[in-house]
Amino acid sequence: METLRHVVLLVHLIGFAVLFGSWAVQAFGGQKQFGKIMEYGLLIAGVAGLALAAPWGLPEGAEPNYMKIGTKLVILVAIGALVGSGLSRQKRGASVAPAVFWLVGILTVTNAAIALLWR
Ligand code: HEM
Repeated sequence: METLRHVVLLVHLIGFAVLFGSWAVQAFGGQKQFGKIMEYGLLIAGVAGLALAAPWGLPEGAEPNYMKIGTKLVILVAIGALVGSGLSRQKRGASVAPAVFWLVGILTVTNAAIALLWR
């Protein structure tokens, strides 16, 4: 069970890598636009994150930190709203507002920082 949990954590990290990687390509040398791939990364991180939120495959006596998990879920929904609104602006031929673009990167890193630093 513990190994399976680590596999789900790996999938979660792949989702994070897809989201942050595709954002970073756009941020540094790219057009600062959103892509459908960011939504796939979010979806992968979100589904695997929800699976990790349940108390299974944990060492004896360990319990999930629901405050931390809830905070990450709120941030994930906010990122989804920003990416979704940016993608629909792009469809209409407009560009993503710089504040919205940078906020998506900042919130993604914030979620990774919460995962690692909130103990
Ligand atoms: C953009 C969104 C997200 C990012 C960048 C992210 C990032 C990460 C990272 C880097 C880890 C590894 C931490 C470690 O090994 O200790 C992790 C673990 C975890 N994440 Fe996420 N995460 C995101 C969204 C979510 C969501 C939405 C949930 C649940 C609703 C969630 C639940 C968890 C859980 C339960 C763990 C494992 C236990 C822990 O260390 O907290 N994550 N996440």
